[in-house]
Amino acid sequence: HTRLQGYWSSDVCSSDLITVVGAGNVGATCADVLAYKEIANEVVLVDIREGFAEGKALDIWQKAPIDLYDTRTIGSTNDYAKTAGSEVVVITSGLPRKPGMTRDDLISTNAGIVKSVTENVVKHSPNAIIIVVSNPLDVMTYQAHITSKLPRTRVMGMAGILDTARYRAFLAEALNVSPKDIQAMLLGGHGDTMVPLPRYTTVGGIPVTELISKDKLNAIIERTKVGGGELVKLMGTSAWYAPGSAAAQMVEAIVRDQKRVLPVCIRLDGEYGIKDCYLGVPVILGKNGVEKIIELDLNNDEKALMETSRKHVKEVMDVLDKLG
Ligand code: NAI
Ligand code: 2OP
Repeated sequence: HTRLQGYWSSDVCSSDLITVVGAGNVGATCADVLAYKEIANEVVLVDIREGFAEGKALDIWQKAPIDLYDTRTIGSTNDYAKTAGSEVVVITSGLPRKPGMTRDDLISTNAGIVKSVTENVVKHSPNAIIIVVSNPLDVMTYQAHITSKLPRTRVMGMAGILDTARYRAFLAEALNVSPKDIQAMLLGGHGDTMVPLPRYTTVGGIPVTELISKDKLNAIIERTKVGGGELVKLMGTSAWYAPGSAAAQMVEAIVRDQKRVLPVCIRLDGEYGIKDCYLGVPVILGKNGVEKIIELDLNNDEKALMETSRKHVKEVMDVLDKLG
């Protein structure tokens, strides 16, 4: 499989340079997936901790002869000159949650980090597309967007791919089917107010509601909403394998101009009847970033859930505004 992966991916286009800021759990995992799938010729990992990114990058590079990929991974301690001209930049720098914390508890520390990182990113890569991962996700996407002054289609947040992956994994387990055959969509903020959409969930093309009882489906939806917290309780810090792969999937969609239909956090400018709020919605992701926002025809219950999510994200955006 590995060798096939190598042959396969060298046949398709890859980026010259991708940067991942934050060489911690999520950032290093993302860089590893980008390298393994040869999505870029070079991946630069940046971290503020002396030598940390260099070490992670060297370790990933030393895996190349085993896993058979050509991507060079380079580490940098806060030197953004090495990131100059990046096509896509993934921002994962910031504190993760500890047990008992909500994502929103991270706001003041992570807002400062995301702001300074974004300033450095755009200074060296003015044409980059930015993917934010740091939490609280929707509001950190807001921070990166206003700092970068880039069009909204080029600054987006990763959350929906992770949240739908959790939902799909739980469903695959409950139905004893391959996770490959579960298609799903999810809206709203990256928090307990996220809006999984059973109406838009299928299993090999079959509506999920034909295969599972309402009670079981509701239990899976509730577990998905607190899926991040479940992992924080188990590990004492937040997840990284699925988040790192989810961010890499967004990079791949952009670099390879795949026009993937994925849930992505972006500022809404009237879509879904919502303005000036950063929320997850289905989009088409390609070489220009978010190329289209897909507007679903929501029923009244779904609209009400979306409104609850909007209000929650807006409250946290207001906290950021007050922090200045
Ligand atoms: P981590 O603690 O393992 O890594 C964070 C890294 O950021 C550390 O290595 C730290 O030195 C670095 N850092 C801090 N300030 C920096 C700066 N100014 N410039 C460059 N690097 C800096 O944390 P982990 O688990 O990788 O999580 C990273 C962030 O991603 C957290 O905020 C976490 O809550 C968030 N997250 C978001 C998810 C999502 O779905 N959007 C999923 C999982 C995590
Ligand atoms: C997650 O959902 C903590 O946002 C992170 O795993």
